[in-house]
Amino acid sequence: MKTTLLITLLLLVLLPIHGCQCKIVQFIFGDSLSDVGNNMNLPKSLAQASLPWYGIDFGNGLPNGRFTNGRTVADIIGDHSGLPRPPPFLDSSLSEDVILSNGVNFASGGGGILNETGGLFIQRISLSRQIELFQGTQQLIADKIGKEEADKFFQDGRYVVALGSNDFINNYLMPVYSDSWKYNDQTFIDYLMETLGAQLKVLHSLGARQLMVFGLGPMGCIPLQRVLSSSGGCQDRTNKLALSFNKATDQLVTGLSAQLANASFKFGDAYDVVNDLITNPKKHGFSNADSPCCSMGRIRPAITCTPMSTLCKDRSKYVFWDEYHPSDRANQMIADELIKKFGFLISPSPAPDSAPSPDSS
Ligand SMILES: *[C@@H]1O[C@H](CO)[C@@H](O)[C@H](O)[C@H]1NC(C)=O
Ligand SMILES: *[C@@H]1O[C@H](CO)[C@@H](O)[C@H](O)[C@H]1NC(C)=O
Repeated sequence: MKTTLLITLLLLVLLPIHGCQCKIVQFIFGDSLSDVGNNMNLPKSLAQASLPWYGIDFGNGLPNGRFTNGRTVADIIGDHSGLPRPPPFLDSSLSEDVILSNGVNFASGGGGILNETGGLFIQRISLSRQIELFQGTQQLIADKIGKEEADKFFQDGRYVVALGSNDFINNYLMPVYSDSWKYNDQTFIDYLMETLGAQLKVLHSLGARQLMVFGLGPMGCIPLQRVLSSSGGCQDRTNKLALSFNKATDQLVTGLSAQLANASFKFGDAYDVVNDLITNPKKHGFSNADSPCCSMGRIRPAITCTPMSTLCKDRSKYVFWDEYHPSDRANQMIADELIKKFGFLISPSPAPDSAPSPDSS
């Protein structure tokens, strides 16, 4: 008992000498699956979750910029790890103090790994641009607390990179984009990996050490893809692309993690779990896995949920909230799977004496 107290006191005295007493926070890079309000501040963007009934099961129930009824997967994983939810970069109240205590979320609906992805949305923030904004953020923090402390703050941060579905759905698979005829399936994925690899290296050079890349779900089964197929079934080719992307990204991330100094880069996907929800919805307590909870009835695809749409009776029984995005409860199941796979890897304190977790295998 006495020793513990002594050690605690010693730590309290020693910590300030170590410099940064900063909190561990998250920096999130992503698309609409992780956007928490950036696009709401892009007035010309056509990818918006700024109208009811987005956000109906979150906080006060008003739209908050999330493209779902409740929480995102990153919200749920961050909550589980005891990390604060980072505010959107474009939030007018963002300041150095807010960044130091909460991190920043750069995710933007319609954004992709590639700059050209999502051009039809007029305004969206691509991954390259999100990383540039992060660099600007680093400068602000360095000016505020000094370069050395800032370096430590950014090296202690937790990083999430979650993009890729728009590079297919709102680029490669749409004939209006030149990438759709410049590449084939293999060369397009090579191009994505080359671009993503370079971006992850930039993040590492900026201090990212603990980073998680999310893979894609069976995006050929989102309601929008089904309604475009003659049978109403999943688009097989789109699902195969997601699987190829996941395999290539897994290799890329594992390789970089081994190659880059002090890097702990992880790849996590929940493809199989979502596929199981879609194939056996009843087994998981869902009643509908093929159409959006928020919809305009027979007018489909409705592209977005609007105040004129009608809602399903029980939002927890629908896998999909709108034509593209999973519901809060589906997100919970995706997050649970990633937490199960990675246990405490993204937990804030690598406490050596923590109790064994029933999750760790
Ligand atoms: C993508 O956009 C960024 C600016 O956000 C730019 O620096 C970069 O060169 C662009 N990449 C390509 C391949 O055009
Ligand atoms: C890696 O970690 C070691 C030990 O903490 C440190 O001395 C070194 O500077 C780190 N290297 C990089 C590139 O972060």
